[in-house]
Amino acid sequence: MARIIGGLTTSHIPSIGNAVPREAQLVNDPYWEPFFAGYPPAREWVQKVKPDVAIVIYNDHGLNFFLNNMPTFSIGAAPEYRNADEGWGIPTIPPFQGDPDLSWHIIESVVEDEFDVASCQEMLVDHGFTVPMSLFWPNNSYSGVRTIPVCINTVQHPLPTPMRCFKFGQAIGRAIESYPKDINVLVMGTGGLSHQLDGERAGFINKEFDLLCMDKIVSDPEALARYSIPELVRLSGAQGAEFILWLTMRGALGNKVKKIHSNYYVAISNTATALMVLEKAA
Ligand code: DHB
Ligand code: FE
Repeated sequence: MARIIGGLTTSHIPSIGNAVPREAQLVNDPYWEPFFAGYPPAREWVQKVKPDVAIVIYNDHGLNFFLNNMPTFSIGAAPEYRNADEGWGIPTIPPFQGDPDLSWHIIESVVEDEFDVASCQEMLVDHGFTVPMSLFWPNNSYSGVRTIPVCINTVQHPLPTPMRCFKFGQAIGRAIESYPKDINVLVMGTGGLSHQLDGERAGFINKEFDLLCMDKIVSDPEALARYSIPELVRLSGAQGAEFILWLTMRGALGNKVKKIHSNYYVAISNTATALMVLEKAA
């Protein structure tokens, strides 16, 4: 049967997509050093656990879905995913291999579990997906891992509640663990932590709340899932609501997890950056 080996979370700020190809120089830059310093242990862990498939839970920011057509939950079921010019100047990187067989298994299982997702046999993936993949697989060395994009609306209200996302993650976890092939599956949740890109509170960051989230996502994720979307926006900024993507990942990992590694750094661009490596515990 398929095994969930653990979870990764990371911020997905577009400027990181431009910095990654220059990481060797930027590790000596005072602005980037504390950010990039967090990643080597996470990359070593990925090499050690050897995922066959990465389920990437992220939000599209207007590349594949726009405001005229915005599904709450969607899952990729394509043989391949590409990125495209989003206007941030992020490089176009090699395509990502899909796993349509596992995609359809997950789609069938979560629909049976009453999560009525959009199934996408064509899907462009944006920085919410590509930046984390480039961070964890240096030099875009991800050709050996199959990917499944799971996209959740965090752009146009109404957003799904944190509890709904946590339960969606639990349904994804059940789907993976009922897949008959003997494969290792990694679950990623991207975005966050606190940030607000526009309006009166542009630049808003809440370190205290971010650290609470990084603590409770290990020990008591349901406490975090009980926040409402307006509370999450108030505490972590309009775009800090991307934390629902982390909660979805955490739902998939099951009751107990062990923290292997984490890093927190304020700020890259407008965002408090955070990285976590979690292992599923018995
Ligand atoms: C930034 C952060 C994001 O999560 C995003 O999607 C776009 C921009 C930023 O801080 O610049
Ligand atoms: Fe974002």
